[in-house]
Amino acid sequence: MITRIKLRNWKSHLDSELSFSKGVNALIGIMGSGKTSVMQAIAFALFGTFSGVSSRRIAIDDLIMKKPQEKGESSIELEFVLDGRKYEVKRTVEKGKGTSSAEIREEGKLLEVNPQGVTREVSRILQMDYDLFQRAVYSEQNAMDYFLQIPKGKRMQQIDSMLKLDRYEKAREAAVSIKNRIAERRKEKLRMIEDLKERKFEERIRDLESEIKKRGRERERLKGERERLAKRMELIERKFEKREDVVDDLRNRIADLNGRIIYLQNDIKERKERFKKGEEIRAKFRKLKRSIGEKPEDSLRESEKSLEGRRKEYYSLETMKSEILRSLEELESAGERCPVCESKITREKRGTLISHRKAHMEGIEKKMGKLSKVISKDEKELEALKERVELLREIEIEREGIEEDRKKIAEKEREVKYSRKKVTHLVELVRKREAEEKGSRKALQEIVAKEREVKTKLESLEEITQEKNDMLKELKEERDMFLEYVEETKTYERITDSMDSFVFVLRNTQDQLRDEFLKTVNYIMSQVWNELYPYGDFSEIRILVEKDYVLQLKGTRGWVNVDLVSGGERSLASLALRIAFSLAFTPNLRWLILDEPTHNLDVNAIEHFGGVLRDRMENIIDQVFLITHEERLSDYITGSIYKLERDKKMDGITKIIVS
Ligand SMILES: Nc1ncnc2c1ncn2[C@@H]1O[C@H](COP(=O)(O)OP(=O)(O)OP(=O)(O)O)[C@@H](O)[C@H]1O
Ligand SMILES: [Mg+2]
Repeated sequence: MITRIKLRNWKSHLDSELSFSKGVNALIGIMGSGKTSVMQAIAFALFGTFSGVSSRRIAIDDLIMKKPQEKGESSIELEFVLDGRKYEVKRTVEKGKGTSSAEIREEGKLLEVNPQGVTREVSRILQMDYDLFQRAVYSEQNAMDYFLQIPKGKRMQQIDSMLKLDRYEKAREAAVSIKNRIAERRKEKLRMIEDLKERKFEERIRDLESEIKKRGRERERLKGERERLAKRMELIERKFEKREDVVDDLRNRIADLNGRIIYLQNDIKERKERFKKGEEIRAKFRKLKRSIGEKPEDSLRESEKSLEGRRKEYYSLETMKSEILRSLEELESAGERCPVCESKITREKRGTLISHRKAHMEGIEKKMGKLSKVISKDEKELEALKERVELLREIEIEREGIEEDRKKIAEKEREVKYSRKKVTHLVELVRKREAEEKGSRKALQEIVAKEREVKTKLESLEEITQEKNDMLKELKEERDMFLEYVEETKTYERITDSMDSFVFVLRNTQDQLRDEFLKTVNYIMSQVWNELYPYGDFSEIRILVEKDYVLQLKGTRGWVNVDLVSGGERSLASLALRIAFSLAFTPNLRWLILDEPTHNLDVNAIEHFGGVLRDRMENIIDQVFLITHEERLSDYITGSIYKLERDKKMDGITKIIVS
């Protein structure tokens, strides 16, 4: 509900303030008193425009008071209540600047401050934009039959846009254009598919794959052969190494044997020489033996025995001599008594005894001299014998060694012979091995050549296989592209089908919504019509689609288009349509502004209309603003009534009288 409006410097209003209530509010006054200006101010406050401004018939500057005073700016303040909340809108226009400021408050709280923002907020709160407001709420002066003034064929479009059904239209157009574009693309792809079909991808891929497979098998075979050859090569090389080791071993053995032979030969030579020398020793031995006797030990023992006897003899002579010497000394020193028998002895006897004894001693000394010579001779001879026996012993040992040599020589000569034979055998073996190696080398060379050949073949095969694989890859890529194209065409087909369905659904929805809307409008109109129309000739009213929307009244002879009925009938039909539109489009708002709705009506109809305003309107619409110069209608007004006056001769300002 719009509760209050304040106009400052607004056209002929210098400072007008009007309060409104529920029900029908009326502005009554003569022509040019400033009634319409108040309604324009309501529209301007809410949406920043009204039809004169939006159609550029009126400039913003023309809204600012020019007479009787010229003002630089003008402002409108509007207050309305919706769902229990109070909203205040204020807009100011300045000369040459258009709308210079605007604001909207909800319960005193500022919501927006710029003109467009305020319009946006109002549209959000009222759930209605200016277009809808103009068509559903604000029936401007002389535009009551606004709907009928739209040329036939354009009405559908206008209503659709009010119902926002034009969006479906736009969506449909967009969908059709997309569909056409996709269909075109599909056609193009189909052409490409036809061209690509000629290239017989599958067949070529199959051929190429089987060829690659064949080459793969050949490759495996060659690889196997190469491996086998490599193994054989390795085997031969290993044999070479082994053989080399064997030959080296043989050579070492030959060298060892030759060394041994040389050693043996030297040894034999030495022994032979020694043996030769042995001959002389043997002769010497024989001679010695002859001189010593067969048993040299016995001869030696005999000589020693005889020497011993002689020595014993000598010692006994020596003892005798010392006995005689001692007896002599005793005799010479004894005087008259015998030293032995103590008997008296004469000088002569003593002399005789002394000379006797001296003669005895001389004989002993002679014997001893002779014996000593024999002993020393015997000693010499024994010594020589001992030497000879010793020599014989040595020769004996040497002789045994020589005997050993003779055995050894024979032994070693046998070994030399054996070794020589062995060397010959080993040399033969070396030769054989070397011959074998020569043969193997030749075989190895052949294998190496063969391996190289296989390798070259394998390489060229691999190169070709690579080429074929590249070709295959390329072909498959092309094939995939082809398949992708096929898939794409299917997708395109699906899309165009969906688009068709979508378009169909859109059209259907649009038709259904339109139908719903028409049903609602027709229902409201039928209710309103019974209230509004005072005569009995037209019993019903309806709007229907016949190529475009038409408004019809049901007369005694059936439905007739409103264009064919009288101006008054037409006005009431238009009013019924207005009310129905207002309720159908803005069911939560239920406002209606009617500027001079009765100007085509006769007295009867005006009075009937007055009755409707008074008795019925409140049930249908919450708040009506009625502008009229029909003073008599004031009797039917249920809300505020303002009488507007103005001294037109003096270019006076609008004066408001509350009745
Ligand atoms: N900028 C302005 N300054 C002063 N007066 C103006 C200005 N613009 C328009 N007017 C005058 O304001 C008057 C009010 O016009 P308005 O349309 O509100 O009258 P009305 O009461 O609706 O008349 P009618 O019944 O003929 O439709 C007109 O006489 C017009 O000449
Ligand atoms: Mg007017």
